[in-house]
Amino acid sequence: MTQGPENTDPSLEGERLQKLLARAGYGSRRVCEILIAEGRVTVNGRIAELGNRVDAEVDVICVDGAMAPLAQSKVYYLLNKPAGIITTASDPQGRPTVLSMVTSSVRIFPIGRLDMNTEGLLLLSNDGRLAHLLTHPSSGIQKEYLARVKGDPSPGALRRLREGVELDDGITAPAQVSRVSEGLIRIVIHEGRNRQVRRMCEAVGHEVVRLVRTRIGPLTDPTLTPGSSRQLSLLEVRRLMEAVGMTDEMAASMPS
Ligand code: URA
Repeated sequence: MTQGPENTDPSLEGERLQKLLARAGYGSRRVCEILIAEGRVTVNGRIAELGNRVDAEVDVICVDGAMAPLAQSKVYYLLNKPAGIITTASDPQGRPTVLSMVTSSVRIFPIGRLDMNTEGLLLLSNDGRLAHLLTHPSSGIQKEYLARVKGDPSPGALRRLREGVELDDGITAPAQVSRVSEGLIRIVIHEGRNRQVRRMCEAVGHEVVRLVRTRIGPLTDPTLTPGSSRQLSLLEVRRLMEAVGMTDEMAASMPS
């Protein structure tokens, strides 16, 4: 909490408490002023006063004793995951995780997963809604992989991969599959089943020896070296939101 009601300097840092509460869904600014005047709002454990300015990133704001759901700014990282790193937030066995490869000042989590030995692009964020939409089976988001396989798949094997192969959890949806060179195929799927590409290739007789994800929906970055990460650009975030139908969030991210 930065200043009391007596201070009218417009250059003060922080946002007026009633404005922030209104944005968090507690009603109009006027209604929120009443909440504050009634002593129902606390900032960092102290009863708030009209005119208080707050920082949503730092101050703990409660209404009737419950923490207010203040929108935290969202962050989006793209990591080029190397082989041998696991895609969980923490590992009881102490193995290195994807989180140890990205430096973020806010808590983030991986969106979707890659097997320990799969390399390539992985998104990390604190945006739960985007994560839900991207990983939901109905999202239809394309994921593109380069798979180095044993042997050289025949046109018939490629056709089976394209049309759908029988796995123990059902037939796979149609996929885009092309042969890049001997023993190297590009495969685009939009399902997110466990070890899907490896199992698909095994089902047509070609064990995968190396698997790299090269695209997630509109996101690709051939310049991102293994082990490095970067934040998404605003344009990339918008394209991703567009791809999953987050139109409200897209509008909110537009510069005013
Ligand atoms: N398919 C796989 O087999 N493994 C992955 O990590 C991702 C897709």
